[in-house]
Amino acid sequence: MKGLSILGSTGSVGTNVLRIVDAFPDRFRVIGLAAGTNVDRLAEQVSRYRPRVVSVASARAGEELGRRVDLSGLTLGVGEAGAVAVASHPEAGLVVASAVGAVGLLPTYRALEAGKDVALANKETLVMAGELMVERARANGCRILPIDSEHCALHQCLDGRRPEEVRRLVLTASGGPFRRRPRETFDQVVPEEALSHPTWSMGRKITIDSATLMNKGLEVIEAHWLFGVPPDKVSVLIHPQSVVHSMVEFVDGTVLAQLGVTDMRLPIQYALSYPERWEAAIPGMDFTQAISLEFEQPDHERFPCLGLAYQALAGGGSLPAVLNAADEVAVAAFLEGRLPFGAIADTIGEVMAAHPPLPIRALDDVLAADAWAREQARVILVRRAARATV
Ligand SMILES: NC(=O)c1ccc[n+]([C@@H]2O[C@H](COP(=O)([O-])OP(=O)(O)OC[C@H]3O[C@@H](n4cnc5c(N)ncnc54)[C@H](OP(=O)(O)O)[C@@H]3O)[C@@H](O)[C@H]2O)c1
Repeated sequence: MKGLSILGSTGSVGTNVLRIVDAFPDRFRVIGLAAGTNVDRLAEQVSRYRPRVVSVASARAGEELGRRVDLSGLTLGVGEAGAVAVASHPEAGLVVASAVGAVGLLPTYRALEAGKDVALANKETLVMAGELMVERARANGCRILPIDSEHCALHQCLDGRRPEEVRRLVLTASGGPFRRRPRETFDQVVPEEALSHPTWSMGRKITIDSATLMNKGLEVIEAHWLFGVPPDKVSVLIHPQSVVHSMVEFVDGTVLAQLGVTDMRLPIQYALSYPERWEAAIPGMDFTQAISLEFEQPDHERFPCLGLAYQALAGGGSLPAVLNAADEVAVAAFLEGRLPFGAIADTIGEVMAAHPPLPIRALDDVLAADAWAREQARVILVRRAARATV
């Protein structure tokens, strides 16, 4: 039985992880659950799985949880320290990192420090601190297994092959809901439109990142760190059908692609069962129906976020952490109706332009860059709002 801790258990990925646990009750024991503020869902999970340790974002959420479910016999943690306790519990052999954004960084890093394998959905942590995380995993002999469907595809196609054997990795992208929408109309986009993804059902932040193509940019950085392939060998193609989850072209010209239905339980189960494959109740591809596979180049002019991510990776040091933090602030502002859709990329670009990259030697350097970028982004948003009201 694998002892499992889940960071972000109440989210889109987290709840799918628990569906896999339900499908294989003899294979997993849930040791820890960490969430933010969705106390109702967490209470259901606590009463169903009776973990050893639970964590929520605030003391108030902890009190609410205590009113909804019997917490006797388990440890309740709060905030970052609580999430770290979930991630590093001695009985957890595998930690699923499925919180959203920078909040996942420290607990995921502590899991690797404690020698745990990590099934990683929370790509922001690798964007912020890829080198540190990969080094920590290597030093402690832990695996980082991707849950992102694209990286899961690459992991399967690479199957342990060396980076020198790779001509290029090809990450596919659906193109999001605005693939054909003219840029001049981007400022009229309302959150509901941006939140309706054509092929995947996901959390709010990643769905907006998919609409700006920042998600693909973050994935380029993630692929670089996961597979040790240089940035110029990580490419992106728009593939609206989302049937090919990604491809590897090897130096001999062979291309391997992984295909599948758009169901996150597939890559999640792959990461949870690795290196084995288990019989799943998930339907396979239906090849009796005509399937068309289209590929096109991304439009960098309409979707500048992708280029910003390549720029951050090339600049290195603290720049990817700055990109990530500015994106988190800008996406939150858009969702709250404080920033037009088209200005998300402008805001991130402005924050990056004001930041000379600094070397990253330790996690504190990452956290300092993250804090700086959040503050800088907020200042830019305030200035922008002031200009708009003049
Ligand atoms: N959804 C997908 O299909 C998908 C696919 C590939 C990769 N990913 C990546 O997976 C990650 C999660 O995405 P998602 O779509 O599942 O997001 P989501 O539905 O918004 O869920 C986010 C999770 O993070 C939790 N969280 C928020 N603040 C927290 C805190 N301070 N401490 C601990 N947990 C906290 C949330 O808890 P509360 O809800 O309780 O506040 C929730 O459980 C993201 O990095 C995303 O890029 C997602």
